[in-house]
Amino acid sequence: MMRTHSCGDLRKEHVGREVALCGWCHVRRDHGGLIFLDLRDRSGRVQVVFNPQEEKEAFSVAQEIKSEYVLRVQGIVSARPEGTENPDLPTGEIEVHASRLEILNVAKTPPFQIGDTQGVDDVVRLKYRYLDLRSERMQRNLSVRHRLVTAAREYLNSQGFWEVETPILLKSTPEGARDFLVPARLYPGKFYALPQSPQLMKQTLMISGVERYYQIARCLRDEDPRADRQVEHTQIDIEMSFITEEDIYAVVEGLFAHTFGACGIDISTPFPRLTYEEAMERFGTDKPDLRFGMELREVSSIVKGTEFRPIAQTLDYGGIVKGLCVPQSDDIGRKEIDRLTAFAARFGAGGLIHLVVEDGSLSGPLAKFFTPEQQESLKSAFKASSGDMLLLIAGDSATVNESLARLRVHLAERLELIPAGQWKFAWVTDFPLFSWNATGKCVEAMHHPFTSPREEDLPLLDTDPLKVKGRLYDVVLNGQEVASGSIRIHRREIQEKVFKMIQLSPEEAERRFGFLLEAFEYGAPPHGGIAPGVDRLVAAIVGEENIREVIAFPKTATGADPLTGAPSEVEGDQLAELGIALRPSETEDRK
Ligand code: AMO
Repeated sequence: MMRTHSCGDLRKEHVGREVALCGWCHVRRDHGGLIFLDLRDRSGRVQVVFNPQEEKEAFSVAQEIKSEYVLRVQGIVSARPEGTENPDLPTGEIEVHASRLEILNVAKTPPFQIGDTQGVDDVVRLKYRYLDLRSERMQRNLSVRHRLVTAAREYLNSQGFWEVETPILLKSTPEGARDFLVPARLYPGKFYALPQSPQLMKQTLMISGVERYYQIARCLRDEDPRADRQVEHTQIDIEMSFITEEDIYAVVEGLFAHTFGACGIDISTPFPRLTYEEAMERFGTDKPDLRFGMELREVSSIVKGTEFRPIAQTLDYGGIVKGLCVPQSDDIGRKEIDRLTAFAARFGAGGLIHLVVEDGSLSGPLAKFFTPEQQESLKSAFKASSGDMLLLIAGDSATVNESLARLRVHLAERLELIPAGQWKFAWVTDFPLFSWNATGKCVEAMHHPFTSPREEDLPLLDTDPLKVKGRLYDVVLNGQEVASGSIRIHRREIQEKVFKMIQLSPEEAERRFGFLLEAFEYGAPPHGGIAPGVDRLVAAIVGEENIREVIAFPKTATGADPLTGAPSEVEGDQLAELGIALRPSETEDRK
């Protein structure tokens, strides 16, 4: 037998047992004539001791060992001498007295110590990802990801869902991002697109009578990676027939309770629900973080009539004044206000008005612009008490909401108002079906164009499209969107109408989505679905800020893979076979 136990599993009850272990040398220390070696495998670490008096040969092999050598150790589990136990290590009460040591493989000195990547360039971590992944942190992240995905399958299987695979080589199904294209050798000049999500395929599966589908689906979008975004991400993609929103809410709450439970986290269901409008009003965003207060209040009607010009002008042109109340703001000094003003300016705010609440009134350089009645009303609008600070922003509602929403989270982090270990889920519902594209001067789909409008809003499609509500729902967790979905359109004429509204000509709609429009005519059932994002969920559970840390082989911020060197040039023959010629300027750029 190569090994009898895993390193991290040994405990006091194993004392006296002869064991064989395999793993990597985490660290070697020579100490008082003895050699101590921490042997590491996936389960954890254990201390191995080599004594020249007892086992001469093993001791002399141990003298050659360097970090990351691959080893097989035989020995006896012993209690550590009193006073040398390590309470920080699960195996810290024991050690293995080695009788035999085999070097299974040697290793070059790694570019960084396993588990100590502070200050190590991200590109280096990704180039040596196999070393990075050996760390306790990354192994934990991968194991939690495995647990979450396994539990998702378990739960959905138990609810009568079928796991169905959909193609990776598809026709382009735009969902807002750019497609990755794959040239089709057998059809020169034509391309497959990699799926941005299996959206149209899962809808087609509903028309096929599958009724309950899921897939752990890889989605590919050619967009710039960010902390919560990768060019490849994974969704728990779900679709159901003959349902309403309530069925989706029940399945997703059950799914989240089961998967988080499998990762050792109890969450409470049902999740609270907020409409989009309410979320925007109270938090300035459709991804509210409900772990702390500091809710926003619009105070336009209170401050109306002030002689402070930026406010007066804003209200004249139809803008709003909104703000938040920072509790007990003693440590926010003048310099900090300047920093907060600059922070808000990054999101377009023209200025930040600050008013400190004192017993009877408000103080601050701009307090004089507000009458005693206005000051009183402001205090009561924010339920402010002495020592609190009001921060107000005037402008158009989109800018005010965005800058206040960012400021709210920024302040909560800075003032440490966010309690640890809380899982605040919420449904955000009743989104508008369309948003306004100021550049193109047209409406565009808020989520994707396959979302059903509310039945009662159908007449508004012609008269006031921006007022039409979509049957859309998102799940937010601690201020992040972790799932998004909708009840879909299942009738051809409504789908055609929505395509028309987003400036897709009938010819273009037919060319791109003709197969779906036709399928709708053969008895499409009412259906809907949702897709929770695996990467964001796992990152939230393990407390990682960047989803890259929960993906085995992610891409860098510029979409590259330093390990394999992707993307890379290809042979001229390969291009010729595909009928592709590169323009000289592009070949030059790549050099
Ligand atoms: P959407 O594009 O909103 O919807 O994605 C659903 C969920 O997937 C996650 N997600 C991402 N995670 C990491 N990197 C990305 N680039 C990324 N993009 C999205 C998020 C998000 O909530 N077909 C629809 C779903 C549906 O309507 O059923 C879709 O893809 O957690």
